[in-house]
Amino acid sequence: MMGRNLALAGATLGLPALAYARFVEPFWLEVSHPVVHVEELTGISDHLKGFKVAFFSDLHLPDRGPASDTIWHAVERTLLEKPDMVMLGGDMFDHGRYNPAMADIARVIKGAGIPIFGVLGNHDYFGRRGEYLRIMRALEEAGVKWLINQAEPFDYKGGQYWLAGIDDWVKGEPDIQGVTGQLPSGERPLLVLTHNPQTVKALPPNFAHVMLSGHTHGGQINPALPPLHRKLNWITFKEGHHHSEFPLGWYTYNGIRLYVGKGLGMSGMKLRFNARPEVVILQFV
Ligand SMILES: [Fe+2]
Repeated sequence: MMGRNLALAGATLGLPALAYARFVEPFWLEVSHPVVHVEELTGISDHLKGFKVAFFSDLHLPDRGPASDTIWHAVERTLLEKPDMVMLGGDMFDHGRYNPAMADIARVIKGAGIPIFGVLGNHDYFGRRGEYLRIMRALEEAGVKWLINQAEPFDYKGGQYWLAGIDDWVKGEPDIQGVTGQLPSGERPLLVLTHNPQTVKALPPNFAHVMLSGHTHGGQINPALPPLHRKLNWITFKEGHHHSEFPLGWYTYNGIRLYVGKGLGMSGMKLRFNARPEVVILQFV
């Protein structure tokens, strides 16, 4: 299956491009700086200007061994950016098997005084029965606060805002109503974190100001050049639960601004083409 996929990718991309997709692009980190204009957010005060969130997703760590240089590079760049929080968007572990390399990363970020919030992705649930509980416990000890079907207030420059997280759409038990019930009435979270961007279609209109998701890897293998790459890629054509209408970048759906990050690792074929690994530094200006 893998050989057939590789042959298909080779036929689509051509050999030099295949070599590039295998040996160059997966290690070529993009630090993106998407921007949200605070004055466009109803009911949010100007005091939020300057707020910064780093978003990591789809690390796809192997079962054992260290995280890749690309991932550590993303951690270094994040520390230099001095974000107010780091959000983990799931698929930290490729086969749902706990690897302490993730706790090392969390400790470094937490050690720099940056709070970390997270949700799990479908791959984090791929392990043996109960393995995801071990993942949650170990990362909690390393400083991660889980937002799995949880709402959580936070303070920034004297104002209070809300975060919310929803469990993975495919392998978790997403509970949108349960999260809504934890919010003060009429409160719209500033950020909602969930692995799979398709979840946006199930959210009530205007559920949150901004949503952060991963899962798609930006298409991962993306033969079309911008702007067509948002329509024509591996993930928009793929059938089944990997299909996504929201492969990368910004979308607005039912009043929710959705940003889909390309993630840092790879699943299946270890190739990236026109979908560089991305650490997202979301800025409120
Ligand atoms: Fe993933």
